[in-house]
Amino acid sequence: MKTYLVTGGAGFIGANYIHYLFEKYDDIHVYNLDKLTYAGNPENLKEFENNPNYTFIKGDICDPEFVGPLVAKSDIVVNFAAESHVDRSIGAPDDFIRTDVFGAFVLLESARKHGVEKFIQISTDEVYGSIEKGSFVETDPLMPSSPYSASKSGADRLAFSYYVTYDLPIIISRCSNNYGPYQYPEKLISLFITNAFENKQLPVYGDGKNVRDWIYVWDHCNAVDFIIHNGQNGEIYNIGGGNERTNLEITEFILKALDKPHSLIKFVTDRPGHDRRYSLDCTKLKNMGWKPEFNLETALQATVNWYREHQAWWKKIKSGEYLEYYKSHYGKSL
Ligand code: NAD
Ligand code: DAU
Repeated sequence: MKTYLVTGGAGFIGANYIHYLFEKYDDIHVYNLDKLTYAGNPENLKEFENNPNYTFIKGDICDPEFVGPLVAKSDIVVNFAAESHVDRSIGAPDDFIRTDVFGAFVLLESARKHGVEKFIQISTDEVYGSIEKGSFVETDPLMPSSPYSASKSGADRLAFSYYVTYDLPIIISRCSNNYGPYQYPEKLISLFITNAFENKQLPVYGDGKNVRDWIYVWDHCNAVDFIIHNGQNGEIYNIGGGNERTNLEITEFILKALDKPHSLIKFVTDRPGHDRRYSLDCTKLKNMGWKPEFNLETALQATVNWYREHQAWWKKIKSGEYLEYYKSHYGKSL
């Protein structure tokens, strides 16, 4: 029986990861430690509420009193908890520095104190910054350009320092842009699908030609599981979907899938410091035997279908009704 501490498990990727774990393993216990910020939604894990192998704990990774006993009970720590949205980091960086850097430090310190079998720091391809041509390898220097990616870079390097200095069994993953079920409707794909359903405009930043490498969230979860079992301590692994597309290409796909007009596209002022292109060289992971399984067009269509079939989920969030749900469910306000 392995015990996992998944932080940020009520968010988009963390929730998918917990679904993945329970689909793959019987003999595990999962502690999900999540502060339930605006992005955390216990509804994402409703089906596990009565599962004796699943424990949800509302708490802050920045609180060592809280984190310590949970780390002490866990074999494997996977740190997804973060403020994750670049636009929000431009408007208000404070929480990004606090959670993404200081929170990671608290978890690492607890792991040092109590000992763990594996500590996975979920980093991001954004730490490398933008690249015009070619692709980044794991040894390339970091050049983050937003407060979000700078805070993630801080945690990424801090985690590495705990491997070098304290011999803690750390692995760092740097994944590209995820899409799929349960993504808070503020990111490009989840926002544009849900806006298009409601016949609202799709705000494309700048000329829409920025490029991202899209990966289906299940492939990310699968890669994290793969590196837990096959990765080396102290190593960094790029995880890419191999699907580089411009934002306009993604937008057009969504409009076509929903049979909506191009007139919904609205070009708006560009994001400050907007990285032009992300691109990862994933040879290292590929040579170890991992590759993404999902085709972009098929998985993006499945994602559109998921948002069609789960309108109550995202409408509740968009209308602010979720705050009411939280209050009735937990007896207090956020
Ligand atoms: P998300 O915003 O959907 O979820 C983040 C979760 O963390 C939420 O449930 C939130 O309540 C929780 N959280 C925030 N602050 C916390 C705190 N102080 N203590 C405990 N919990 C807290 O984010 P996501 O898109 O699921 O991303 C998860 C992780 O993956 C992040 O570390 C992010 O940097 C990384 N990542 C994301 C992508 C992507 O495309 N979304 C790609 C690569 C890496
Ligand atoms: O690359 C991995 C990163 O991907 C993760 O580390 C981040 O947590 C995640 O938020 C994501 O960051 P991006 O900034 O790339 O994702 P976002 O969905 O916000 O934007 C994707 C692209 O779409 C980017 O070029 C900006 C553009 N965009 C985004 C939004 C929300 C628009 O044109 N309009 C929009 O309304």
